[in-house]
Amino acid sequence: MFSVKYFSNPWRNVTSTFRKQVDHSGILSHFCAAAEESAKHPSKKHKETPNKQLKRERAPCQLMLKHFDRQYSCELGNLWTSAREVLLNPHSWQYGVMLNRFTAVSNVTQSLKSQGFFSILLQTEASSLLCDKPTESCLKQPRESGSVLSAECLSDDSNLQSDCESQCLQSEPSQSPLLQCYIHSHPLRFPSQAHRHGCLKQYYLLNAASLLPVLALQVKDGEKILDLCSAPGGKAIAIMQSCNPDLLCCNEPDPHRREWLAKTMESFLPPSLNSCVTVSAQDGRYFGQSEPSKYDKVLVDVPCSNDRSWLYSPGGLQRLRERAMLPALQTQLLKSALSAVRPGGTVVYSTCTLSRSENCAVVEAVLRSCPEAEPEDLWEELAVPFSEHFCFQCGQASPLQCGTMHPPDSRLGILVVPHPGKTWGPMFLSRIRRKV
Ligand SMILES: C[S@@+](CC[C@H](N)C(=O)[O-])C[C@H]1O[C@@H](n2cnc3c(N)ncnc32)[C@H](O)[C@@H]1O
Repeated sequence: MFSVKYFSNPWRNVTSTFRKQVDHSGILSHFCAAAEESAKHPSKKHKETPNKQLKRERAPCQLMLKHFDRQYSCELGNLWTSAREVLLNPHSWQYGVMLNRFTAVSNVTQSLKSQGFFSILLQTEASSLLCDKPTESCLKQPRESGSVLSAECLSDDSNLQSDCESQCLQSEPSQSPLLQCYIHSHPLRFPSQAHRHGCLKQYYLLNAASLLPVLALQVKDGEKILDLCSAPGGKAIAIMQSCNPDLLCCNEPDPHRREWLAKTMESFLPPSLNSCVTVSAQDGRYFGQSEPSKYDKVLVDVPCSNDRSWLYSPGGLQRLRERAMLPALQTQLLKSALSAVRPGGTVVYSTCTLSRSENCAVVEAVLRSCPEAEPEDLWEELAVPFSEHFCFQCGQASPLQCGTMHPPDSRLGILVVPHPGKTWGPMFLSRIRRKV
């Protein structure tokens, strides 16, 4: 019988060659992706009293908001007005449901469809995107929902839980790689699944824009892939839905977040995969030196000033100081990723902030100092086909001064800007090929 024990989780065994621990002197602890975190634990929100929830959601940090207003009205113009409206209204936020191909999911898809969720990727088109083939459209028309919905969980997850148990133990999971994500046109929240001993989770809740960096990576069977900044592991799980890699190395230097990563692995991947999915604990800035030219693809989903969560977290002044330090760390991580990828391989750089200095400015700085790095335009490949669901903007090169920006240049990257009705993001992504 299938069984996973917490204490025997193979993903808690950090790959021995990577065991080097680094003193990150506080650099690590704060920079995390709390958007996924809050999506992962929506049930916590539902346990709060409505008053407490409203109070929390109505209290953005005024210092951060002022800072955003100054910076983003300059960098995004009118788009900031609509992004601001979304960020200040958590009730409007949408959530995606990524299915786990290592479990049977028919009961989940049935439940999703009955509530008006629809798949964001058509099966054949998802695989063509992942296989680097041209695609005319990868969109599916939203289903009619017919009723007005609120930002609440519509169904109790107890049925899904018990179904999960019987499905995991009795049905055949899919062996063929297939990334599947369901979304709803309204801010409807699907219930989270609690950790169940001996039972893989059937789905992962996330901001659907988080899948774009994985799609941009175009992972293929048999490749060696590095996820340089991996915890809590949402994108690593998405990579494992998309291909059967020879190796997926998930790197996370922060011990607590690495525990969380191991738990994600345990909840979503069968133990038989522990020979090809490894966990390492390096400071990503030095990864390129210790493993030069080893990987076909590298995802560098850097620590960033996560706009959604930072707007609501306390300690605004400290956050602003951290924000100023981030581009230097991000530049080092991206350079390290370019050293870890083989010549001809690709690196995808991503953040969940709108901030130009953590997005295009980092890419520009690295392109200036690495002549072997060549940016690849993602506009036609991802922004055009997904524009029905996400609001995109091209990357913007360094401003001469506020209001006199260079024309947008999608070779530097594309930005998902939250917009009413398309509340996904913020998410910036850029793909860079190492030429030699
Ligand atoms: C945005 S989060 C990654 C989210 C993850 N990719 C996912 O999809 O679930 C950034 C991660 O980078 C880690 N990090 C911070 N400094 C790092 C460094 N120097 N090297 C590698 N990772 C680092 C943080 O601890 C954090 O877990």
